[in-house]
Amino acid sequence: MSAQITAVSGGPYSRILGFGSFRPARVVPNSELVERIDSSDEWIQERSGIVERRWAGDDETVVDMATTAAQRALADAGLEGSDIDAVIVSTVSNLVITPSVAAIVAGRIGSRGAALDISAACAGFSYGVNIADGLVRAGSATHVLVIGAEKLSDFTDLDDRGTAFLFADGAGAAIVGPSDTPGIGPAVWGSDGSQAEVITSTPRRPRRTDPVTEHGDARPVLTMQGQSVFRWAVAEMAKAAAEAVAAAGIRPEDLDCFIPHQANNRITDAMIKYLGLPENVTVARDISHMGNTSAASIPLAMDALRAEGRLPAGGLALLIGFGAGLVWSAQVVRIPG
Ligand code: UT7
Repeated sequence: MSAQITAVSGGPYSRILGFGSFRPARVVPNSELVERIDSSDEWIQERSGIVERRWAGDDETVVDMATTAAQRALADAGLEGSDIDAVIVSTVSNLVITPSVAAIVAGRIGSRGAALDISAACAGFSYGVNIADGLVRAGSATHVLVIGAEKLSDFTDLDDRGTAFLFADGAGAAIVGPSDTPGIGPAVWGSDGSQAEVITSTPRRPRRTDPVTEHGDARPVLTMQGQSVFRWAVAEMAKAAAEAVAAAGIRPEDLDCFIPHQANNRITDAMIKYLGLPENVTVARDISHMGNTSAASIPLAMDALRAEGRLPAGGLALLIGFGAGLVWSAQVVRIPG
């Protein structure tokens, strides 16, 4: 028999040790967008829950936002960049295809760990937490930095009625590490590529009000069949959320918080109803002030709840992300602290 390969294995459990986020300074109210799409503040608030959103500045990149969120997560966990063995960044809005956001962020925070970007759209943070959980428990890494970072304003068609008011910018990060008790429940995750066309990207059209530069503008724009996605989320994602609760071996009433991807308050309402969540469970509604920030929305919403004093340390939170792919991921996590 040939020589045996040495295998590693980690501890039995992992948990989120700390988290942080970054919100760009520029607040964009509905009033700034409505004229171009023949809409109104009332319509946008009623149909989505969005009052305003944040857009990053021209010189503020996905990498910059991801780095700041990462530094805040490190401080929260009481760790240094050199403690990080792997960096996972979920993004669909970096302007270059290489190098990865993760490798640059790792360098900026002082980590020489493994670094990779993943593309799982609005499910990306939950995907990242699940991958990190596996890495820690397999012994491949001790501390994994998971980041969701998006600058969707770079890829939004401001003349598209279905998306111009929706997408926004920001970043959130969490550090996953070893734990003596279970801190991350089993993920209920999956994909349905047969619905790939319902959220996609198309080449940018040159237009008078938004002229292409002399050299052309290579950025595509996001397109979405809003109603199809809405119906799918209400029907299928509510079920996935319930499955994640069951997989964690708890009941909906055992939850302290529900932190869904911030896609639409009406989708969140439908999930609450399907789950039968009691009123004392805190529900994240960060979409009102942040719009839809895709992979960043869950950690941003979690951090907002903490800032408002509404995130009970040591409590249980249900996370669920869903979006382009179509892809989804949900799990119950123990809130650090
Ligand atoms: O993050 C990834 C996952 N994404 C999502 O989960 C998003 C899911 N989709 C949605 O959240 C919703 O579909 C939107 C908020 C995007 C749109 O809301 P909707 O209720 O689905 O609008 P709709 O496209 O069905 O349009 C309803 C009506 C139509 O008028 P009629 O035909 O009923 O007279 C549209 O023409 O609203 C009209 N409309 C608008 N009116 C004012 C469509 N867009 C607008 C607009 N402003 N921006």
